[in-house]
Parts: sequence; C-alpha cells; structure tokens
Amino acid sequence: MKLWGGRFEGGPSEVFDRFGRSLHFDKTLIDVDLRGSIAHAKGLLKIGILSAEECTKLISTLEAMRGEASQRGFFDNSADEDVHTVVIHKLKERLGADLADKIHTGRSRNDQVSLDVRLWLREQIDSGRGLLTELLGELLQLAHRYPDAIIPGYTHTRRAQPVLWPHYLLAYFEMFSRDWERLGDARRRVNVMPLGSGALAGSGFPVDRDAVAAELGFASVTRNSMDVSADRDFLLDFEHAANLTMLHLSRMAEDWILYTGEEFGWMDLGDGVTSGSSMMPQKRNPDSLELIRGKAGRVFGAYIGLLVTMKGLPMTYNRDMQEDKQPLFDVVDQLLSSIEMATVVVRTATLKPEIALAAVEQSWAVATDLADALARSGMPFHQAHKVVGQLVLESVKAGKTARQWSAETLTAFHPAFTADMAALLDPRAGLSTRNIRGGTGPQAVAGALAEAGIRLREMRG
Ligand code: ARG
Repeated sequence: MKLWGGRFEGGPSEVFDRFGRSLHFDKTLIDVDLRGSIAHAKGLLKIGILSAEECTKLISTLEAMRGEASQRGFFDNSADEDVHTVVIHKLKERLGADLADKIHTGRSRNDQVSLDVRLWLREQIDSGRGLLTELLGELLQLAHRYPDAIIPGYTHTRRAQPVLWPHYLLAYFEMFSRDWERLGDARRRVNVMPLGSGALAGSGFPVDRDAVAAELGFASVTRNSMDVSADRDFLLDFEHAANLTMLHLSRMAEDWILYTGEEFGWMDLGDGVTSGSSMMPQKRNPDSLELIRGKAGRVFGAYIGLLVTMKGLPMTYNRDMQEDKQPLFDVVDQLLSSIEMATVVVRTATLKPEIALAAVEQSWAVATDLADALARSGMPFHQAHKVVGQLVLESVKAGKTARQWSAETLTAFHPAFTADMAALLDPRAGLSTRNIRGGTGPQAVAGALAEAGIRLREMRG
C-alpha cells in the first residue's frame, strides 16, 4: 500500500521501491507514531472531522496496535514503504478505508516524522541522562574509596604535578555533568510540537495545536511550518551532546587503558570488564574501554554525516532527510551502551596507591612546589623556576630523586632555599599549598567532593 499514487500511471520500479523503503529501520518509531496519531485523532474530533464514534474506534484500534507492535511478527509480510504507511494500512484492514483514510487529514509525513522523532528522542535523552547520573555516582564512590591517594598528574603524558586521586576523578565528574546539562539543553529543543505544520505550508484544518502539545507532553509548539519541514537542528543538537559525551568517555577510556597497563601500572580493572587472548595466556586486555574509544569514532561519524546531509538542502523537506534516522538510532544505541559500560568499569576499577605515589616520587613532580616556595620567599618566579630547573638537572645527572635531597643538601645547593622548604620534597606538603578553589589541595578537594555529591542529588531530582 502507498499513501500516494492517484497521480501516477505506473507504479514504482522494484528497485526504487527497495531503495526508498525505510520500514526496516523506522519501525523503531512505531509506538511514538501510534501515540502521535492518537493525539492527532483527538485534535480532529474537536474540529468535527471525526465524529465521537469514529474517534473512539480509531483510538481503540491504535491503542490495540501499540500492544501488538511490541510482539514479534507485527511487521512480518509488510511491504509498506515506512512506519507511517504500515499504521494506516493496518487501520484500513481493521476499520475500512472510509474511516482509516480520515486520520491523515491536515497532516503530512513531514510534520509526522518530525513529531515521531521528537517523541522518541525525548525518551532516549531521558534514559541517557539517567545513565549519566549512575556513572557520576560511581565516579564519586571510586573517589571516596581512596580519598587521600596521590597520583601523578600528567601533561604531554609526562609526570607533571602530584594530584589527589579524587581531584582527578572530579575532572571527569565535571565533564559528565556538563554532558548531562547539554543533553538537557538538547531536550528543550527537541521538546517542541511540530504537528499542524502540514507538508510545509501549515495544516488547512484549525486543529488546536496547543491541546495536541499538552496531550503529548510537549512544552510548546513550533512557530513556522516551513522551518519544521526543513529542520533537523534538534537532531544535531542532540548528536552534538552525544558526541561530547562519547569524547569524554573515550578520553577516560584512553587514560585507564594507559594507567592499567604495565608501563603505568598504578590502576587495575576487574576481571568482569577485561578479556583474555586466544593465544597469549598471560593477557588481560581492556577491551571494554577500547570498545568505548572505538564507538566514539563511529558516533562522531554520524554527526558529521548528518551535517553534510543537511548542508546543501534547499527549503524545505527533501528525501535526503530520511538518511538521518539510521545514524541517529545508532548514536543513541552506542551512547547509552557506552555510558552503561563505563559505569560498570568504574565500579570494578581499583587504584594501587603505593605504585601511584612511587611514580610521583621517582619523578620531579614536586619541582613546581619548590619553585612556588622560592617565589613566596620573594624571588621572582622566573628566577625560582631557573634555580629549581638547575636542581633537577643536577639530580638527573647524579641519578637522584627529589626524596634523596635533604634540608642540608638543598640549602647548600642554592642560598635561596631555606631548610623548611625541604618539606616540599614530600609531595603531600605541596598539595596543601593548593587549597585554592578548584585546586588539588586536600581541603579544596574535600569541599569539591561534598559539593559534587549535592549536585548529583539535585540531578537525580
Ligand atoms: N520516511 C520519511 C523520512 O524519514 C518520512 C517523510 C516522507 N515524506 C515525504 N515527503 N516523502 O523523512
């Protein structure tokens, strides 16, 4: 069955029919399509296009289809073009053409598909945000498991300065909470009701659009019918938010692939999220994290793909836009499953605090603390930087670590050093000079952790 055809003498070629069909993927939208049609039927009742009896029949049939659509076989033997056609086809079989054909009054598949995707995506965004709060909760728990542990903070993948373990995890807490907000922003743009726009010029029937919006839980209605037919910005907004979430997941995955490997070795992952090698018996590979990192690339591709699909489209609807759906569904799948996977990885992750501390102490990660101390004593910072640089050079040449210096040798090395500055050879001492808000000092971090807990409770609502 087709929703068009009167104007044609010949039917579509078999190849075009196959080429243009979208049912095998847009059937994902079946439930929202049915809900949209129910709301539309109520709108048609109010303006007298449907009688009360007709409306009741339509709605009960559409409701029944909602139940059936989740069962296997609902789409079997269906040669229809898309999900919208299947619904009308089945309505015709059950109610007869005279009634079924009325449901599409004042509606186009252009505003219908916009409605369907908005309804569907709104729910997916809510799931994604819910999963993100789980991940944020696990990050906080992992921080609380080692509240005082010191790890090397890196720049250029070189040991840079000591930081507290919770401080490191809170950096990801910030990223993922921004993602949670960003998905919320995208949701606001998704949550606008397009029905009533018709094909492009607005419906010819005075359906109460606000009532339809209220019925379907939308916050407002779209303002311009041409914009509706042409617009996929709300998908791009969502995909942008999804992309940044995947970017953050991928960077955390990359960190932990490194930190849990032999070369870093100060973190570990649980057996449940690692896999072995078919040949090398000793291997324990971080495949869960590698898959997250890999899926990020796939999700970025979908976003770029949609931008390119949209960039040259003349106003308003063009069939190119059907190509938005498979990548969107895939982005949602990859996003939700990656957040879920990351949450389990965080739950199983362990820190090896002694090895992390040893990595700090074997390097000159305290160098900045010493330079800061000289600067606090009045030496201009650049001069302090140079003195400590010379100290590090001397140490490297002599094969000495920071801990092998003492108050005596330090003051002997340069008169600007005072005996009390030797305390900073212990990384913990330097940490407490960084209690500035946002810094890695123990009090600052304890405060940030407590605040993160409160923020998370607010996010969970
Ligand atoms: N399957 C189409 C899509 O996803 C639905 C809209 C069809 N509209 C049309 N004018 N052919 O975009």
